[in-house]
Amino acid sequence: ADIVETSFVVKNLTANRLCQNQVITAVNGSLPGPTIKAKEGDTVIVHVFNRSPYNLTIHWHGVFQKLTQWADGPEFITQCPIRPGGNYTYRYNLTGQVGTLWWHAHVQWLRATVYGALVIRPRDGQKYPFVKPYREDTILLGEWWNANPIDVESTALASGGVPVNSDAYTINGWPGDLFNSCVSKNTYRLDVVPGKTYLLRIINAALNNQFFFKIANHNMTVVGADAAYTNPFQTDVLLLGPGQTTDVLFTANQSPGLYYMAASPYASAAGVPFNGNTTTGIIAYKKATQTTPILPVMPAFNDTPTAFAFSSNLTALVTSPFWSPVPRTVDENMLITFGLGLSACNSSQNCSGIFGQRMSASMNNHSFVLPSQVSLLEAVFRNISGVYTTDFPDTPPLVFDYTNVNNSFNQSFLFAPKSTSVKRVKFNATVQVVFQNTALIGIENHPMHLHGFNFYVLAQGFGNYNPATDTQKFNLVNPQERNTLGVPVGGWAVIRFRANNPGVWFLHCHLDVHLPWGLGTAFLVDNGGTPESTLPPPPADFPNLSSWTRESMI
Ligand code: C2O
Repeated sequence: ADIVETSFVVKNLTANRLCQNQVITAVNGSLPGPTIKAKEGDTVIVHVFNRSPYNLTIHWHGVFQKLTQWADGPEFITQCPIRPGGNYTYRYNLTGQVGTLWWHAHVQWLRATVYGALVIRPRDGQKYPFVKPYREDTILLGEWWNANPIDVESTALASGGVPVNSDAYTINGWPGDLFNSCVSKNTYRLDVVPGKTYLLRIINAALNNQFFFKIANHNMTVVGADAAYTNPFQTDVLLLGPGQTTDVLFTANQSPGLYYMAASPYASAAGVPFNGNTTTGIIAYKKATQTTPILPVMPAFNDTPTAFAFSSNLTALVTSPFWSPVPRTVDENMLITFGLGLSACNSSQNCSGIFGQRMSASMNNHSFVLPSQVSLLEAVFRNISGVYTTDFPDTPPLVFDYTNVNNSFNQSFLFAPKSTSVKRVKFNATVQVVFQNTALIGIENHPMHLHGFNFYVLAQGFGNYNPATDTQKFNLVNPQERNTLGVPVGGWAVIRFRANNPGVWFLHCHLDVHLPWGLGTAFLVDNGGTPESTLPPPPADFPNLSSWTRESMI
């Protein structure tokens, strides 16, 4: 195994998109930021220099971080931010996963422009379990605002927290020429040789949108998701929630021409905000004769059957060297319901959420608040009391029956208490979580992301989860492994994982608008009693502090 060492200099710069200049925060002067290319088993060392005016952390989305918990990155969960002018070196190992992950800022909305790909190839002597591609490419789907995303977030929160649409969607940083004629020369373009097979590593880095992805006239074969191999799955459309990655093979087997690849929003239902655009890139065959690219027909924004068919049909490749069988017994059984809620608004705030209050969200009637001044991980490591509680409930309190959609607008159910409440589990416990997404906030599909683990997706469905009948639908043989799963709109999903990674691991909705509302909690996994299962001390340059105050977000 090798050491992959690089530096990230994070600075503001002026970028031109949609025919106008905008100051953005970017890594090493580019949008998206640099791709980290490594092999399974390698050690990655990234020296981050914060030369931006904002607090900063970088999260390595999907990396397990065993024994390197201090490098996970979510602000005030595992570390305090790197102050403007400061620096921090992230060191971690890429053992046990092959495929595509990514990295992004994990403070406020900075990840709108601070993100990039993390590509993990097989270690020397190992091969892909599929045909060797002629070439590989990364496709990062994102969002663009004609504004500074930090300002967009503060504006959204100041106005009660109502989400604000982006101005465009992007492929590798560019909106594409379809609806934005002034940027035609900057549309992402992939030149292909007829007959060759390509591996595309597709990443949804958007803040607040799920995307359908298609390539005109071409099928794709899914071979991996969230850096876990899948059984080959043929499809002409993908669905990616924010945080998810999908690796596909496609063969340039159509008549030599120009074909759009395109991403359009999946917004689940009317009322869920999205901008109506489609972002495009171009697949250009060598010696193409026609000059106008062919556009794929995209699913409607609310095409839940297509979204569900894609998300529920993936299965794991159990012959993968990284597969381990699903644990058959469960130690911790949880049912987590999502609630849309409100937090009381005082007169100094702009109170334009529903009922004249501010928006919030909850899980099991707890609306999560990040600590300030110290991270949860440091509080655990140093035994600092008063930072968090361990009373996150395994089941929703009955009085807050968020599975009953009629309760959603009952005002007495809407004010979930704010707290920093986590779920504590023993090392190596098997944890099963049923996510129930049927109350008002269930009008959209929430991409739930767990740090520090892959989980097995045992089953998904619509309506309310019924243990009597739905446990029979569990796939315990080859369920897909994920770090992020879109819980079906108006439905449920069951995940299971083995808590074999001590530390504090954030579980949250990857729609960034729901993060400051409180749609999250964390798992506190105890040490296991051996050196390999014990949280080590933080590195010397760790941004720990006593003088921190988180910018007020709620
Ligand atoms: Cu991709 Cu908690 O993040």
